[in-house]
Amino acid sequence: MSVKKILLSGIQPSGRVHIGNYFGAMKQFVDLQDTYESYIIIVDLHALTSTQNPEELRQNIIDLAIDYLAVGLDPKKITLYKQSDVPQVTELAWIFECITTMPYLSRAHAFKDAQTQEKEVNVGTFNYPMLMAADILIQDTDIVPVGQDQKQHVEISRDTAEKFNRTFGETFKIPEPYILPSVQTFPGTDGQKMSKSYGNTIGLFASDKEIKEAVMKIPTDSKSVDEPKNPETDNVFALHRFFTAGPEFDELRDRYEAGGIGYQESKEILVRNINRFIAPLRESRGKLEKNMKMVLEVLREGGKQASKRAEEKMSEVRKRIGITLP
Ligand code: ADP
Ligand code: TRP
Repeated sequence: MSVKKILLSGIQPSGRVHIGNYFGAMKQFVDLQDTYESYIIIVDLHALTSTQNPEELRQNIIDLAIDYLAVGLDPKKITLYKQSDVPQVTELAWIFECITTMPYLSRAHAFKDAQTQEKEVNVGTFNYPMLMAADILIQDTDIVPVGQDQKQHVEISRDTAEKFNRTFGETFKIPEPYILPSVQTFPGTDGQKMSKSYGNTIGLFASDKEIKEAVMKIPTDSKSVDEPKNPETDNVFALHRFFTAGPEFDELRDRYEAGGIGYQESKEILVRNINRFIAPLRESRGKLEKNMKMVLEVLREGGKQASKRAEEKMSEVRKRIGITLP
């Protein structure tokens, strides 16, 4: 039996992943795959709260599976699966919904944001944290690596585990969020949080041209080449922190502070360095695209394993709540 602790996380197949997803979450999945017994999910049922186009959803699921493998997740080490291959989570989510109050879920940031943006929010969006709690708790998860924006959702999972344990007896482990302070909110090309919904992303597998276009439109102040510039407040420099390293980084900071570098040159260096980072990822993605049989097999196998574990947990849960007859 494994003595490793359990890591679990997921991303919605709701559009192309960006460098903020990578630094905020995916990189941690890769870095920790040797240390933890890891479960990595494509949360397709969550994506249904915002995508109701079957062709698009199918393509997004396949793309995300390839993305996960292309960044270096090793299917021999981790269990990679599609949420919908573990139908026990929807059963558990229902049970959680029955022990959770409406005022409590109404305080979730994601729901509140949806309420201000959309005329009529669907029930799935309101219940979203319950399905996420089911994903996490059904696998006895210890840590959940995510970006800062998901912290509240992990806290809801903790509260839900505690509530269930108080009501029906000790059943669920209490999971911890794992959020790296240096990347808790990765900056977008406009200085806000990078997010699919804000149109300020750089794709994790972007082409040279796409990288260039995104970087060149980063807004800066209007200081001339010779004027000293503040690296702490510049949106271009904020990205250099992730892509420019060592002496090149130190020199860049010195030139910002002393004056003598224009934003155009700083952007050109950034484009070059982002491209250097992305090129091998693009290449490994290209190879995986030609090996779809393997990718689909990884998902099928992962789904089977995750569902087997989930079923064991659910038989305990069903007994606890009183629906299993002698
Ligand atoms: P988006 O906001 O672009 O729709 P998702 O909600 O799909 O991103 O997020 C998937 C994962 O990536 C989550 O763990 C989330 O916290 C993380 N993440 C997304 N954007 C950022 C960001 N700008 N900085 C840090 N982590 C992020
Ligand atoms: N809510 C997460 C997001 O939007 C996705 C998610 C679903 C998740 N289930 C999860 C993250 C379980 C971590 C663990 O990014």
